[in-house]
Amino acid sequence: MSNDIDTMRAVFARAYGTPQDLEIGDFPKPSAGPGQILIAVKAAGVAFHDGLQLAGKHQIKHQMPYVPGMEIAGTVAALGEGVEGPAVGTPVMALNQGGGWGEYAWVDQSQVWPVLEGVDDPTAAAICMAYTTSHCGLHWEGGLQAGETVLITGATGGVGLAAVQIAHAMGAKVIAVASSDERLAIAADNGADHGVNYTSVGLKDAVMELTDGNGVDVAFDPVMGSLYPDVLSSLAWGGRHVIIGFAGGEIPQIPSNRLLVKNRRALGMVMRYYRYHKPDMMRETVDILQRWYLDGQIRPLIAEIGPLEKAPEFLVEIMERRLIGRAILEP
Ligand SMILES: NC(=O)c1ccc[n+]([C@@H]2O[C@H](COP(=O)([O-])OP(=O)(O)OC[C@H]3O[C@@H](n4cnc5c(N)ncnc54)[C@H](OP(=O)(O)O)[C@@H]3O)[C@@H](O)[C@H]2O)c1
Repeated sequence: MSNDIDTMRAVFARAYGTPQDLEIGDFPKPSAGPGQILIAVKAAGVAFHDGLQLAGKHQIKHQMPYVPGMEIAGTVAALGEGVEGPAVGTPVMALNQGGGWGEYAWVDQSQVWPVLEGVDDPTAAAICMAYTTSHCGLHWEGGLQAGETVLITGATGGVGLAAVQIAHAMGAKVIAVASSDERLAIAADNGADHGVNYTSVGLKDAVMELTDGNGVDVAFDPVMGSLYPDVLSSLAWGGRHVIIGFAGGEIPQIPSNRLLVKNRRALGMVMRYYRYHKPDMMRETVDILQRWYLDGQIRPLIAEIGPLEKAPEFLVEIMERRLIGRAILEP
């Protein structure tokens, strides 16, 4: 804890760069402006998008210096002008463009959701982005139904593993796609019915074999990249491709003729849409996920928990694909 009332301990970047360029130390303590809530941060997620932002390769750009960290869990510390609740001291989860890797973070009041009793801080931080993304992608966007088959790429990544658990909870048949048998074993432990290691077998052929030649109803895809042609070919008649992200690096062009010939749909899914334009759906998603957690239907895999000093190490592990599950900082 910083001794100066106007400063706090935080992880910050002075310029776009690498995890090794991050600094840890005193940083101006934020306050809650009009319409904002100040949160005393208890847990904050470290994720792929933080690495992209730090590298200057994400759609969200920052004024320097900035504190990274979009996924926040903690308690309400102060309410800005015009904000009527939740009351100071209420446990909350929240999303922001950054700011989570410090003792305090301000968040727009519309981006703060109360945490139910029994949901701990690391779980709330893990749920607020990875699980909401997966639920919005599978349920609201993809319209996944019980009994349908869903293919999930990056199935042991933060978002992908959440999608495996959620799709299983929704009663779908889950085909997990990952780069190693070890990763597929983890996906199986989390609810995947089948696994495809795309480094050793052809993805499309394996999916066709698993689906009696029909293909999948929904593809949930945080990877795209070089897997995209096979993912597209794996879609059944009327299949829905939910595009979540580009962890694979490449941003592929969509061949519209291949959508047309099987009545397939390509669906972009970004959380900002639900957060800012569909707040009722977002709130329902947050409620459903917390209830599923309390019922034991989903269980975020927290791979690492550590103090702010661990931020560079966690981020390197994520960007080098060595971390399975979520890494959490506790300021
Ligand atoms: N649409 C939205 O609103 C939204 C919200 C959150 C995150 N995202 C995006 O979703 C993507 C995944 O996020 P995440 O937090 O799940 O990331 P993550 O934990 O790092 O997982 C990414 C997965 O992608 C796979 N992958 C394939 N090629 C890769 C490569 N060249 N580099 C890194 N990973 C590669 C890896 O699995 P294998 O090695 O098994 O293939 C890895 O497990 C990111 O692009 C992120 O920006 C989008």
